[in-house]
Parts: sequence; structure tokens; C-alpha cells
Amino acid sequence: MSESEFSMTQPAGALGTIFGCVSAHWPEHASFLQKSLAGRENGVVAVSECLGAAIVALASTIEGGLDKLASDYRFLCEEIVMPEEIHFRRFGSYRLTSFADAQRECYANDPFMERYMNGLLLSNVLWANHANAFAYYVTRYLPRLPMGAHHLEIGPGHGLFLHFAAAKGKLGRIAGWDVSPTSIAKTRHALDTLGTGREIELIEQDLFAACSPRSQDRFDSIVMSEILEHLEDPAQALRCASRWLKPGGLLWINVPANSPAPDHIYLFESLDHAQRIAEEAGLEVVDARAFPMSGVTIERAVKHRLSVSCSLLTRAPA
Ligand SMILES: C[S@@+](CC[C@H](N)C(=O)[O-])C[C@H]1O[C@@H](n2cnc3c(N)ncnc32)[C@H](O)[C@@H]1O
Repeated sequence: MSESEFSMTQPAGALGTIFGCVSAHWPEHASFLQKSLAGRENGVVAVSECLGAAIVALASTIEGGLDKLASDYRFLCEEIVMPEEIHFRRFGSYRLTSFADAQRECYANDPFMERYMNGLLLSNVLWANHANAFAYYVTRYLPRLPMGAHHLEIGPGHGLFLHFAAAKGKLGRIAGWDVSPTSIAKTRHALDTLGTGREIELIEQDLFAACSPRSQDRFDSIVMSEILEHLEDPAQALRCASRWLKPGGLLWINVPANSPAPDHIYLFESLDHAQRIAEEAGLEVVDARAFPMSGVTIERAVKHRLSVSCSLLTRAPA
């Protein structure tokens, strides 16, 4: 598809700005972007538009702006994900399996991480599975939380999930824990730039080092999005996180299955697999959804082991 064909059908608003910028940087990717948008429900497009507006606002604060994010997105797809995808197709497993490997290859490499995280930021609107999972969180998870609920996100990374939680306006205490100082700084920057207008506690904290809360410190709601696949023992992580829930509290899990990346070390093979891990950790699964990658049906994704975002709404015992 040529750039002019793309522009005839591209969305308006912030999404149009982002899709246009990425397709200008990478014209061969335009038909993927078309397919990615084509299957989205209107409600999902509306959330992607709000998220897109936040991303455009953030882009204006970084050197190189949206062009830099678009170039890093291309780097993410071609240089970071593609080699891992080739390994996965060949061997049926992720290339790395230990945190030490991921630490050496990714987390300790600041310039690499910067480009990786910039690219991932755009994936939240450009990839159908990420866009659908984000929309589920905004339109189905957050509205379930009671007025004044205490809310924690573990691994906020770029901070946009926390921003939307704060924008809901009805939550009580809001906190974010991340093991990475870079992620804490990015989250703080996002929250300051987007202006939530309220206090959010951000703490550099390794989840595994915080498994014994006092009962008065527990939360009504915890979010863990795109973190379990980065851990060697996701069931233990969920057991630890669920101790921070009040009885009957909610934990929303978003985890990709069959989704190779250099820092994905635990292979979730399906929605059922993710559900089993949550149940092993003592959580009740209230709702489970699978969102396939762009342009692919769920049947095809399952048959060919293609990437699927698994969204689980779980509850601690009452
Ligand atoms: C891929 S990012 C996810 C960002 C965002 N939640 C999303 O869904 O797009 C994973 C985040 O989890 C954090 N993380 C990894 N292991 C952790 C641990 N043991 N405790 C707390 N945070 C951790 C990483 O530093 C990173 O910021």
C-alpha cells in the first residue's frame, strides 16, 4: 500500500497523527497498520484515541518527538522482536529463560532499553492485542473498582495505566512499584506531563522483596500488566502480590502468550495456561479474555501459536 492510499483511510485525531508518522517512517508497514485498526470495535478505537493523545503529549517532551518514537517502534519490530520470533518459530521456546540473561542483554543496556520502551509505548495503540487489552482495563476493569478503592500497579513501566487509573477520579490511595529506577522515572515523567493533579506514590520496589504486608497496608485493586512473562516464577509473583490484596480484592493480569522478546523468559502458551497459574496462586478467575495479534483471528492465533494478550480479572478469597 502506498502512503497516499494509507492516508485516505487512516484515522483522524491523535491516532491519525501516530499512524501517519509511523507509516511515513516505514511505508511497508502501512498495510499491517490498516489491518490492525480494521478489526477494532468502536469503543476500543475511542480508548486508543485517548491513549494516542497521551502518547502525542509525551512525545512532545522528548528529543526528536514523535519521529523518534516512530523510528524506535520500527527498531523494536525489526531488530528486537523479529530475531526472537525466528528463534521461537524454529525451537518453540523463548531464547532466554533466566532473569540474569535478560538483565545482561536488556535491563543493563540503557540505550537499548530506551529505544525498546519508546517502541513499546507506540505498540499500545498500533498493535491490536495491546490496544484491546488496554481498552479492557479502561472500560471494564477500572469501572468495577469501588469509590475510594486503594489501587496499586506493580511494574507500571511507562506509567500510562496508572495515568488512566488516576484520571478515573474515584480512587483513594494510588501507588506504583517498579524494580527499575528508569521505569519509575518514566512513570513519574508521564504522570507529571499528563497532569493527573493528585498524589501518586511511586516506589522503587522488587515485588519478591515485599511479600509480607501489614493488613492495614493492603489494596482493593492490583494491576500487573506485561510483567509475569519477565519473571522466572510467575506463580510465586502472584502469590506474593495477592498477599497485598484485601479479602475479595481484585487483581487484573495482562500477560502475552507466545510472544517472543529478549526479556520474556517465561513462556505462557495459552489463555488456559495463564488461568492455571493464577488459580495455582489461590486467585479466583472472574473473567478471562484472549486478544490476538493484529489481523489474526483467535482460532488462527491458537493454531499457529501466534501472539495473544491474555487478560484475566481475578479475585482474592473473601
Ligand atoms: C514491559 S514493562 C510493562 C509496562 C506496563 N505495565 C505495560 O503493560 O505496558 C514491565 C515492567 O515490570 C517491571 N518489573 C520487572 N520485574 C519486576 C519486579 N520483580 N518487581 C517490580 N517490577 C518489576 C520492569 O522494570 C518494567 O518496568
